[in-house]
Amino acid sequence: MDSFWTKKQLIGLSPMDGVTDAAFRYITDKYGKPDILFTEFVPVEGLARGATKLLQSFVHHATDTPTIAQIYGTDLNAYYQAAIVAAELGFDGIDINMGCPDRAVARKGAGAGLIKTPRLAQDIIRTVKRAVIDWSEGQSMEKVQVHDEITQTILKYRKTYQFHVTKKILPVSVKTRIGYDTVVTEDWMNYLLEAGPIAISVHGRTLAQMYTGRADWDEIGKAAALAHDSTIRLLGNGDISSLTEAKQKLKTYRLDGILIGRASFGNPWIFSDTVADYKTRLKTALEHAEIFAELLPDAHFVSLRKHMAWYCRGFDHAAEVREKLMHINTVDDVRRILREIV
Ligand SMILES: Cc1cc2nc3c(=O)[nH]c(=O)nc-3n(C[C@H](O)[C@H](O)[C@H](O)COP(=O)(O)O)c2cc1C
Repeated sequence: MDSFWTKKQLIGLSPMDGVTDAAFRYITDKYGKPDILFTEFVPVEGLARGATKLLQSFVHHATDTPTIAQIYGTDLNAYYQAAIVAAELGFDGIDINMGCPDRAVARKGAGAGLIKTPRLAQDIIRTVKRAVIDWSEGQSMEKVQVHDEITQTILKYRKTYQFHVTKKILPVSVKTRIGYDTVVTEDWMNYLLEAGPIAISVHGRTLAQMYTGRADWDEIGKAAALAHDSTIRLLGNGDISSLTEAKQKLKTYRLDGILIGRASFGNPWIFSDTVADYKTRLKTALEHAEIFAELLPDAHFVSLRKHMAWYCRGFDHAAEVREKLMHINTVDDVRRILREIV
């Protein structure tokens, strides 16, 4: 399939719940220009129940950078519907989360919990692949009985932002870890490869490791070697702290791409290999707050506070300013605090 996934080695922004919302993606896109962007993950069962609030994670800005909607859950029917929803919202791809270690998610068998039920994981990939084909051939939200409130919200959103959606078969990818409580890279990868997603992103830790220890890049390299016998793209992920390091890992482990997560906090420039001085960072923080208010008018500023703090380092009294930013509720609050410094 001709897709952005197959074009070249990709360096992308990793999906992060509570972080990669539309405003963060906008800023990262503008100042870093990664090759791909992911949304936060959205539970398919929640969408099926009509929880319109979840669509906030699926708000996106106009950009040529491929933007991929990430979903998670266990229910096949809900996956089918969620895939149609993501397609109707104009995303460029759909990614299935099979790596989240959060207890609330994994205990229900979703996220990294799927590593323990590989047959279900395969069924999920096949279901989402079928949904995107059906959608390209005319399947609609109404016909598959997507919850009426979700459908209405999407129709309203499309009218407000006046965007046009082209019917095409969206690529379906997976993001996962190297095991549940022990490393099972080879077995797990073989199941995934058999179900044929277009790409697999592998975070080099097990669920049990959560975010502790170091990501095991040799295991990622093993996964890449297995994928080399197929057309499936393999991306590595875990602990990358610079573009130079990302490029080294691409070469050493013969990967098709790298995802960068935490090192992008307050640092969209990581993708363009530039270093911003503190004034630029603070100006960008203000721009981030402005675009947050514009793109996500219903979102609470609480979720923006950490972003503001992440930009705020490397100058006198940075800790004091960070503390003040922990109480912002409006763009004006941000302006008032930052005006004292830049
Ligand atoms: C705050 C936070 C939220 C995350 N949420 C998601 C998510 O929604 N979906 C996902 O696939 N991974 C999620 N992850 C995992 C990251 O995408 C990435 O795999 C992990 O942070 C390792 O990469 P890094 O070392 O470059 O950060 C999250 C990580 C963090 C720190």
